[in-house]
Amino acid sequence: MEAKITAIGTYAPEKVIDNHYFESFLDTSDEWIRTRTGITERRYSADNEYTSDLSIAAVKNLAARYGKTISDVDFILVATVTHDQIMPSMASQLQYRLNIPNAAALDISAACAGFGYGLTLARSLIRSGMYRKILLVGAETLTKVTDFEDRTSCILFGDGAGALLIEAADKGNIGECIAGAEGSGGQELYLSTQATQVNGTPIKANNKIVQNGRAVFRWAVTRMSEMFEAVVEKNGLTKEDIDWFIPHSANMRIIEAICRQVGFPVEKSLESLSRFGNTSSASIPLALDEAVRDGRVKKGDKLLMLGFGGGLTYAGTVVEWGL
Ligand code: COA
Repeated sequence: MEAKITAIGTYAPEKVIDNHYFESFLDTSDEWIRTRTGITERRYSADNEYTSDLSIAAVKNLAARYGKTISDVDFILVATVTHDQIMPSMASQLQYRLNIPNAAALDISAACAGFGYGLTLARSLIRSGMYRKILLVGAETLTKVTDFEDRTSCILFGDGAGALLIEAADKGNIGECIAGAEGSGGQELYLSTQATQVNGTPIKANNKIVQNGRAVFRWAVTRMSEMFEAVVEKNGLTKEDIDWFIPHSANMRIIEAICRQVGFPVEKSLESLSRFGNTSSASIPLALDEAVRDGRVKKGDKLLMLGFGGGLTYAGTVVEWGL
């Protein structure tokens, strides 16, 4: 059997935070943030609103649009680095709270590449013949682990969630996937809980995202440009066949640089960062769903999705949109 995406849903918290918010307590400006990142606003979860809540809201949105039952889902995958708690997993909480009785439940820890890893795993689980209906969620409450004293990172992050239903079908629409990691760059972007060092580098803080923005920027442009070409080629396509490029939404300048590097029109890329900031594993489904809803993405369009993030990790595939 092949893997086919049969439904999508998303959710973002209500509270909108614009760039001026940061001017009140940091040496920064709306102009700097907009021109250096492309972000104009992001959403913040409420104090009592956690990643599981965002995930459930995204799945409820998916279920309403799907119109059929999801209680027969047999595997739940949740990509996140901001679990409510490490144990029980987010996926186990969803299994219980969404009343999906016979599902396996597993969290994916691949940072901003988590959604790409999720697509890779979901496709493999279905093609193995062992599972038939998979719920894949990418959800984050990054603002709960944001260092608000670090002006180079706190302006980037936002909260959100996206979900896909992926089912066994004779004709699938998730193409060949590539996933990988460069653990040697782990110290450039981390969210540590109790360690004292990463790759021999003393950690700066626990329970806060720490990043070397310039190093991650350079790595992302180089590696994602290579990934763009590798994923397209692995699917027997050329870049002219790609209707929409949906990279992880971290920084508009990263997306522009990748497009310049590979010779792909930036107008044919989709992003969620301008309105939601960097939402890690939720960024690709948020960008996709907006374009599905407003009609830019049409049935039959070929979508190149590339995730990259802490780890350092990356994962991508081509989807032929079918809804
Ligand atoms: N407001 C004003 N000035 C700021 C600032 C802010 N919020 N953040 C940094 N600056 C300053 C720096 O201190 C530096 O000043 P200096 O020249 O006096 O030292 C200057 O702006 C340039 O800093 P630099 O780090 O070179 O900026 P940049 O153009 O690389 O942008 C990031 C910084 C973090 C936005 C950018 O590097 C980035 O997006 N990196 C990738 C991050 C990412 O994608 N992370 C997630 C991956 S999943």
